[in-house]
Amino acid sequence: MDRCQLFRRQPTIPDPKPSNLTMFVPKPSTVTTSSGSFTVDRSCKIAVMDDGDAHSRVGEYLHSLFMTRPFEIQLKHSQFDGDPTSGAIRLLKKSRKDASIDESYELTIAPNDVTITAQSDAGLTRGVQSLYQLALQQKDASDSASTDIIKIPAMTIADQPRFAWRGMHLDVSRHFFSVADIKRYLDLLALFKFNVFHWHLTDDQGWRFEIDAYPRLTSIGAKRSDGKTSGSGFYTKKDIREVIDYAKLRHIEVIPEIDLPGHTQAMLAAYPELSCTGGPLEVSKTTGIHKDVLCVGNEDAFKLVTTMLDEVAEVFDSTYIHLGGDECPTDRWKECAKCQKRFTDERLKDESGLQGYFTARVVAHLKKLNRVGVFWDEVLEMGLPAGNVLMSWRGMEHGINAAKQGHRVVMSPHTHCYFDFKHIDDPNDHGATWADPISLKEVYAFEPIPAELNDESGKNVLGGQANVWTERMPDFKTVEMMALPRMCALSEVLWTNAKDRDWSSFRKRLATITPWLANNHNVHKSIHGE
Ligand code: ACM
Ligand code: ZN
Repeated sequence: MDRCQLFRRQPTIPDPKPSNLTMFVPKPSTVTTSSGSFTVDRSCKIAVMDDGDAHSRVGEYLHSLFMTRPFEIQLKHSQFDGDPTSGAIRLLKKSRKDASIDESYELTIAPNDVTITAQSDAGLTRGVQSLYQLALQQKDASDSASTDIIKIPAMTIADQPRFAWRGMHLDVSRHFFSVADIKRYLDLLALFKFNVFHWHLTDDQGWRFEIDAYPRLTSIGAKRSDGKTSGSGFYTKKDIREVIDYAKLRHIEVIPEIDLPGHTQAMLAAYPELSCTGGPLEVSKTTGIHKDVLCVGNEDAFKLVTTMLDEVAEVFDSTYIHLGGDECPTDRWKECAKCQKRFTDERLKDESGLQGYFTARVVAHLKKLNRVGVFWDEVLEMGLPAGNVLMSWRGMEHGINAAKQGHRVVMSPHTHCYFDFKHIDDPNDHGATWADPISLKEVYAFEPIPAELNDESGKNVLGGQANVWTERMPDFKTVEMMALPRMCALSEVLWTNAKDRDWSSFRKRLATITPWLANNHNVHKSIHGE
């Protein structure tokens, strides 16, 4: 007997959509379809192999996904009992000799049960995300009612990512977004298997992270007097921990960015004595590159930076901490007695050497904290300390040079990965007006390992990332509109084998998830075109 019969509310359960349409973004390494389908309903169990470690949290994640709309199916928890016909979704952790990448997984959907096998919690989580995406594709987007029975077509998937760093960034300085918004963003990242959330927490227009030792960073630095509500706000340490925990459940690393020594006007509005002029300065209400930057001749500036980083490291447990380093003009340093003394004492060649000096000192502190620094690509010119990571944004060439010199790099060129640029060439489109648009197709064409890198230097490319700068995004709906659907294309660039990338196949697969996406998020119309 069909084990679901007792629980049916509807006279018939819709058959699954044909399996040639039940496809994923990002495309998995292999998918083998078979006949029949597995029914998810409230009689289903989540069976977790009890190996005594923390991996039952993956069960918690799976449970939470089906508890929310459009399903609202409360799956039961059960101990893994080894019975292959038990009608359960089984999470099985196993070492696999052939799996070199931590996030690899195998997902087998059979009429009687579903098994996700992986060697790590991260792999199990990616398998859960594939199962969830399949379930969403089965849901008729025009039907707004919850579905408490869903049939998922039978298939076997073996899958692993191409790159270890699959990032999405969000600038919360130019506009502030609530913890609820950040969680919504993390849900989108998870759906498309991103594993890095780069949180741009500080800039000229607002400091967004509570530091106990320097309370004015938020009491003054988080408030902008432009009358816009989204111009002010900050996260408490409790907020940050809540976000990190939410991300952890999705196996996303939250990497904070504290942009230094430029892009610091909000910090200097709070502590003007750490600027070269002594201020006064206000939290900036304008965009662009600002001349007032941290005084690198002042020991008190280093005291703030190291104390602040100690507090950052207490809250964030990420391997990496991003310390910015972009767009730092030297105008004030040239006219500042303290900076000039530093310049002479350190026998520097030119003022940009002052940024090199600053970087070396903060990296030494990061090392004490057992963290790795990530820097925007300007820092390569001043000397990137070995062991740290360069994020290439002014095109690919700085990333290429760094990778050739043996540095690890993340490719995030503004030509393909700046999602604050318009989607299409239309004056009414959202996005920066001064930059060329970046279409969905152009994002899809992005190749993080360019031909200039050989097999050896190409290994230094950790992956890629899109950046969402929010000068022109006053609310989270606009953030979604700028990120979607381009982040879907980027997810495939970063997850799928290069040889399996195919634009027309991507468009068809994207179409299977877009009804749900469009019903639940704000998606740009370019989802239908190029
Ligand atoms: C940047 O876009 N200034 C990193
Ligand atoms: Zn100075």
